[in-house]
Amino acid sequence: MTAEIDPVKLMKQEVGKAAASRVQSGTIVGLGTGSTTAYAIQSLGDRIKSGELKDIKGVPTSFQAEVLAKQYGIPLTTLDAIDRIDIAIDGADEVDPHKNLIKGGGAAHTREKIVDTLAEQFIVVVDSGKLVEKLGSTFLLPVEVIPMAITPVMRAIEKLGGKPELRMGIKKAGPVITDQGNMVVDVKFDTIDDPAGLEKTLNNIPGVLENGLFVGVTDVVLIGEVKDGKPVIREM
Ligand code: 5RP
Repeated sequence: MTAEIDPVKLMKQEVGKAAASRVQSGTIVGLGTGSTTAYAIQSLGDRIKSGELKDIKGVPTSFQAEVLAKQYGIPLTTLDAIDRIDIAIDGADEVDPHKNLIKGGGAAHTREKIVDTLAEQFIVVVDSGKLVEKLGSTFLLPVEVIPMAITPVMRAIEKLGGKPELRMGIKKAGPVITDQGNMVVDVKFDTIDDPAGLEKTLNNIPGVLENGLFVGVTDVVLIGEVKDGKPVIREM
């Protein structure tokens, strides 16, 4: 009996592979976070192992990316040691028609924004369920907050019309703590009409480290879909 392969898993694998196939030898690669990017990291590792890809350095956006890169044999570097990032591959929670994003489903959006913004080319890998007409319609907006400021920040967000909730851990009692030791507030806004304005306004609240709005950062969106049980990849 042959084991059934989950078509969603297969599609994520294919979209990750498609992004990894755009990486060339001799480049510095931003390594994103999440279940889709994990397949891109795996595919990069496979290409390095086979000798097809040489002289690659990765910049991880999270502990998850760092662990995976080590597991798949991708040499790592830090922002202190390099003067550029050639290409970054990362997932997203929502993508609008202007290629603006909501990220932070994995609480990694602060490091992701640093790395993805620095990249010469930023490739987003998603499944078609992440495409929205307007940001904020399906996913709450993650905001990373320094712990001592959590109460005043939540009050300030309410004054802006948002409904904030502290993100709680799964298989961990209490709040989620980010790779930087901070907390995450997930915010419901009735509508996000001006993503660029809201991104700046939120980051101006004292105690906010970074929010998950990525405006004008994305170069390429690779979208995976399952059609007739088979993965199909297209570019937005
Ligand atoms: C982590 C992120 C992820 O890229 C985003 O949540 C998408 O993850 P997945 O590919 O697992 O759906 O922003 O902070």
